[in-house]
Amino acid sequence: MNFTKKNVVICGGTTGIGFATAKKFISAGANVWITGRNEKNLKAAAERIDNPNLKTIVADASALGGIVSLEKAIAESGISIDVLLLNAAIITLKPIAQTTEEEFDQQFNTNVKGHYFTLQKLLPYLADGSSVIFTSSGSASLATLNTSVYSGSKAAINKIAQVAANELAGRKIRVNIVSPGPVATELVLSAASEQLLDHFASSTALQRLAEPDEIARAILFLASDHASFITGTELVVDGGFINYAKK
Ligand SMILES: NC(=O)c1ccc[n+]([C@@H]2O[C@H](COP(=O)([O-])OP(=O)(O)OC[C@H]3O[C@@H](n4cnc5c(N)ncnc54)[C@H](OP(=O)(O)O)[C@@H]3O)[C@@H](O)[C@H]2O)c1
Repeated sequence: MNFTKKNVVICGGTTGIGFATAKKFISAGANVWITGRNEKNLKAAAERIDNPNLKTIVADASALGGIVSLEKAIAESGISIDVLLLNAAIITLKPIAQTTEEEFDQQFNTNVKGHYFTLQKLLPYLADGSSVIFTSSGSASLATLNTSVYSGSKAAINKIAQVAANELAGRKIRVNIVSPGPVATELVLSAASEQLLDHFASSTALQRLAEPDEIARAILFLASDHASFITGTELVVDGGFINYAKK
């Protein structure tokens, strides 16, 4: 796929799926801006990609101040955005009985509120005909124990994305959702035990975790002209995870 001279903004692009997607867009000729919470991770990501078309912005998506910093950086760069990937998320695995208000707020602030207001603040910079993609999760369609807040946050952004697709259609902006199953990234590797990781792998029809690259490919597809008539939909990239759980 060719994204030559297209401007791509990835909120949460330092590691995992966001990083793999940034790399793919750079290889396809795009100019890419990635965000993250700190300079250190952004610098490490930039060193790994090592391409002048990659720029970094420190912007904490969980706080309005961080979102305003991102808006300011985009305004100063003078670009219009062709692809916006709203990807950042955090997860805390706990039963409802033990979840604190702080854990609830941290996950909803990053996974839902952050993306809602990032989209709102960046609306004036989105090119007509651009593509917005939310990274959700198969967990929004399941009821996995200990994921009440995380799964709830993903179900919330699915609905926000669907409404956004309808509201932005007048500008020919397409809004879609990519829902991965379990992927081998820091998010799950750091939150899940060895036993839980084995359980995740054996819960997919394909009997393994995905590589971040496999999710990135789906994101590039949705961002491309190949998906020109696709909006308001959820592309599930889960190795059969959701259906296998029902077998
Ligand atoms: N891995 C899976 O199994 C899986 C499954 C389904 C869905 N997903 C979804 O895929 C997306 C990417 O996750 P991943 O698996 O690639 O995890 P990851 O490697 O932990 O990546 C998360 C990214 O989000 C950024 N981030 C976190 N909080 C942020 C904040 N407040 N402000 C700005 N950036 C923030 C992180 O950057 P810094 O740490 O540098 O700030 C990092 O770049 C998430 O939406 C996740 O829910 C993942």
